[in-house]
Amino acid sequence: MKPIPYGKQNIIQQDIDAVTEVLKSNFLTQGPKIIEFENAFAQYIGVKYAVAVSNGTAALHLCTLALGVKFGDKVITTPMTFAASANCVRFVGGEVIFADIDPLTYLLDINKVEKLLESSPPGIYKGIIPVDFAGRSVNLEAFRKLADKHDCWIIEDACHAPGGYFNKDESKQKQFCGNGNYADLAIFSFHPVKHIASGEGGMITTNNKDLYEKLLILRTHGITKDPQLLHENHGGWYYEMQELGYNYRLTDFQAALGISQLQRADEGLQRRQEIAENYQKEFEGKPFIKGQSGFVDGHAYHLYVIEVDDRIGLYNYLREKNIFAQVHYIPVHLMPYYKQFGWKEGDMPNAENYYNHCLSLPMYPTLSDKEQSYVIQTIFEFYNK
Ligand SMILES: Cc1ncc(COP(=O)(O)O)c(C=O)c1O
Repeated sequence: MKPIPYGKQNIIQQDIDAVTEVLKSNFLTQGPKIIEFENAFAQYIGVKYAVAVSNGTAALHLCTLALGVKFGDKVITTPMTFAASANCVRFVGGEVIFADIDPLTYLLDINKVEKLLESSPPGIYKGIIPVDFAGRSVNLEAFRKLADKHDCWIIEDACHAPGGYFNKDESKQKQFCGNGNYADLAIFSFHPVKHIASGEGGMITTNNKDLYEKLLILRTHGITKDPQLLHENHGGWYYEMQELGYNYRLTDFQAALGISQLQRADEGLQRRQEIAENYQKEFEGKPFIKGQSGFVDGHAYHLYVIEVDDRIGLYNYLREKNIFAQVHYIPVHLMPYYKQFGWKEGDMPNAENYYNHCLSLPMYPTLSDKEQSYVIQTIFEFYNK
């Protein structure tokens, strides 16, 4: 059996042709493909505005800038995520406050967030960054209610979940991740291991026009050429740098790859769901499986996670058999960088317990039935030895 990674991009001839076409055109960056990608992505998610940026981390940074996070502002997020979800608060001098996860969904526990908010004087916390971890959507309707009560903004980190959704309580209406109905801003990543690959790449989505316009300016050095916004105008060449921004632009050939990949996003999602259903069926009731992602409506399955004892034994055994499962994530509060602020082992028991047992199994659209069976059989083999 050839090596089986935990995740893998799927590049086909259509993608290569799309990129090649741009390479032969007049625009390598900030040409027509950027706007086309933004519009197509906004339509896919069901949101008004989308801003393409150079990666998911840049997207998060622009969000905290656009929301005006300042030195000392406290922002709540989950420890079970990639470090960037928390780091974006630090980029602008804010303070990261971690709240533990729900041990069943692995998502930021709203009850823990509520406890933090209720136990502090009003105005202490400025915002919440929930993460659609592994592709499972956070219930943002509930988070919005809580955030409104405490005057907080929400950035939804939807890097794992394009196409994922939760069902709105009363109407059971699907609410797609990043659709802007609840979160002020949402972000996505197009790193190759994600659903849509553009090499590096990211997107910010929102229904808020003011934030959208701010993001456009911050993406390009804080510069505007819009005649209506200029303080002066010296002629056709004139622009003004009105804010301290960055170069977080995506290139046109990356956007072309993104557009091409987006056309197969639903197909890929469907295959991920089939794979998940199969894992769930095979692992159900097995005594060595202590927990698993399961088959959940609206889950986008960036990852399929099992919780097991002797995780390192299984991890190493799978590697010997050419299966490269992964661990997502080492809790962010236990990173040396965050430990310097006083975070320590024992602070987030659910996230820490999850980390001690979790393993992300191969999950990507081109994983064949035969490869998946091999993964499952090899796991059975390990525990029945
Ligand atoms: C949950 C989460 N947030 C943010 C990021 C950052 O995205 P990028 O790698 O595109 O900067 C990632 C990507 O790894 C992620 O998984």
